[in-house]
Amino acid sequence: MNSPAMQGLPLHAPAWVRNAKLVAWVADMAALCKPDAIHWCDGSQTEYDQLCQQLVDAGTFKRLNPAKRTNSYLACSDPSDVARVEDRTFICSEKKDEAGPTNNWMAPAEMRATLQPLFDGCMRGRTMYVVPFSMGPLGSPIAHIGVELSDSAYVAVNMKMMTRMGKAVYDVLGVDGEFVPCVHTVGAPLAQGEKDTTAWPCNPTTKYIVHYPETREIWSYGSGYGGNALLGKKCFALRIASNMGRAASQGPSGSLGWLAEHMLILGVTNPQGKKYHVAAAFPSACGKTNFAMLIPPQGFDGWKVTTIGDDIAWIKPGQDGRLYAINPEAGYFGVAPGTNTLTNPNCMASLNKDVIFTNVALTDDGDVWWEGMSEAPAHAIDWQGKDWTPAIAKETGAKAAHPNARFTVAATNNPALDSAWDDPAGVPIDAFIFGGRRSTTVPLVTEARNWNEGVYMAATMGSETTAAAFGQQGVVRRDPFAMLPFAGYNMSDYFQHWLDLGKKLAAAGATLPRIYTTNWFRKGEDGKFVWPGYGENMRVLKWMIDRIEGQAQGTEHVFGVSPAYEELNWTGLDFSAEQFKSVTSIDKAAWQQELKLHAELFEQLAYHLPKELSETKGRIEQRLAA
Ligand code: GTP
Ligand code: SPV
Ligand code: MN
Repeated sequence: MNSPAMQGLPLHAPAWVRNAKLVAWVADMAALCKPDAIHWCDGSQTEYDQLCQQLVDAGTFKRLNPAKRTNSYLACSDPSDVARVEDRTFICSEKKDEAGPTNNWMAPAEMRATLQPLFDGCMRGRTMYVVPFSMGPLGSPIAHIGVELSDSAYVAVNMKMMTRMGKAVYDVLGVDGEFVPCVHTVGAPLAQGEKDTTAWPCNPTTKYIVHYPETREIWSYGSGYGGNALLGKKCFALRIASNMGRAASQGPSGSLGWLAEHMLILGVTNPQGKKYHVAAAFPSACGKTNFAMLIPPQGFDGWKVTTIGDDIAWIKPGQDGRLYAINPEAGYFGVAPGTNTLTNPNCMASLNKDVIFTNVALTDDGDVWWEGMSEAPAHAIDWQGKDWTPAIAKETGAKAAHPNARFTVAATNNPALDSAWDDPAGVPIDAFIFGGRRSTTVPLVTEARNWNEGVYMAATMGSETTAAAFGQQGVVRRDPFAMLPFAGYNMSDYFQHWLDLGKKLAAAGATLPRIYTTNWFRKGEDGKFVWPGYGENMRVLKWMIDRIEGQAQGTEHVFGVSPAYEELNWTGLDFSAEQFKSVTSIDKAAWQQELKLHAELFEQLAYHLPKELSETKGRIEQRLAA
């Protein structure tokens, strides 16, 4: 490959970039992608402000009214580029079985041959941003470094909010440190002299989100949106990191490895000052950000919930046998629709300044609005740039904000941020929660009787699909561990990794975290959610803590332990025993149907399916038949 220097594009690597492998890789990628310029990001506020101004000048950003939202911007994407593209996401391991039946797969050589012509010249007419980032506190033993090359300034400024991005990363990287190389292009090269005709360049027809787990590389083509383009998030922190965590368990005997999970992490402190930590996996757009920022309701005086993370957890066993979690991210890329001062006051308070909004509506006074935020404005410009009024919405069903509209904001904006959120050691986990979105069948909360039953619950979790991924919405699909789109290797091997970790820790005498499954989303005959949700979820969280403390007996049923009505604190909430029954009842016929879906999943995952899971299923079936 010709070096860009030979082609007349000087690298101009700053003196603080001392990693020879990195410089050589940037040179190779510049030669391949052929950008007009290279910008080495230093992560400074000045750089952020300049790039934002550049995005304003290009029409990608609208500066919001500073009196309403200080230093904040609105970006509206191409209508073809609004969510993760699961059907265009690939795990290219050497062997198909390594990717497993739940991932799209192509042999690495074949994928490389497919991508080569696409990436050749893909950045023509654009600047290539070199974005160095740390997933996790800089220098933490749990953290890892990545470098994203992108031809999108929108990506560069979002990465500044979402990760520890900038110059300091190079100090950790040193002359020979390791990094995960991530290449991203919007896939819209410009001919000489050609100007963008759109404010959101992307490739409307060709998209590839590609991972090579063996060589730990990420290549993303054609999309500028969210998890498709901010490669530290799902691509690195989940798909590649899940591979890294499992590989670490296959080292010398006794190696435990670690976990990369689609989980929020919260701290919950009781009135006596005792603090617990909970990690919860809910599928995309199913309430992680809300739960992580929960404000305890009436009846919970002296209780406090604090946020460590809202989307991803990296979890490692500590010397004491407990599991310690860090949030590899430094910001939130959260769902806007439905967020308001009642459902999530901490979140709303986080959004007053220094925010990038994507695909929400612009109000006439230069502020933002989305469905469920407040009373609708009389007029707004919708996310597609069209006039929007409540009357138009009523007539055409047009949404002011796209259902997957998001905000990007630094974690430090969150008034409920946990004091340990940036602690390199992480926080010790007391409980795991797995929660799907189910209108029927699945009860409000159930505790697993042991680790293996908990892994079974997580593995067989179903959830109705949401706008977070491109495709049909509202259909129930199995979403094991809320990781269906994010597990970077064979799902059955992933289950085995969880089982093995529990077994090894227990054998060493450790007390494992309890495992729960929740469902905030059961609906009544009127089609409305029965459980009030949001802050009221504290009542369920408190029951979990009571269980941990041995203070709630619960009622045992076919697949675990659920609370009796009297075991929840109802102070300040009018929720009858009858209503409680309608969100906790277990319908035998419905569960027999549900078990058939578990069977279908296990058939699909038969290769390497851990026997512990089929055995657990057998026991549940026996109890159901009894
Ligand atoms: P990703 O960022 O996509 O991974 O999702 P997330 O799990 O962080 O989703 P988020 O917390 O942003 O939830 C988005 C949707 O869930 C919004 O429509 C919320 O209104 C809804 N939601 C959150 N918590 C609750 C709840 O307790 N009850 C009900 N009914 N809806 C909820
Ligand atoms: C999700 O879809 O689970 C998200 C948003 O957290 S994205 O980063 O776009 O994947
Ligand atoms: Mn997510």
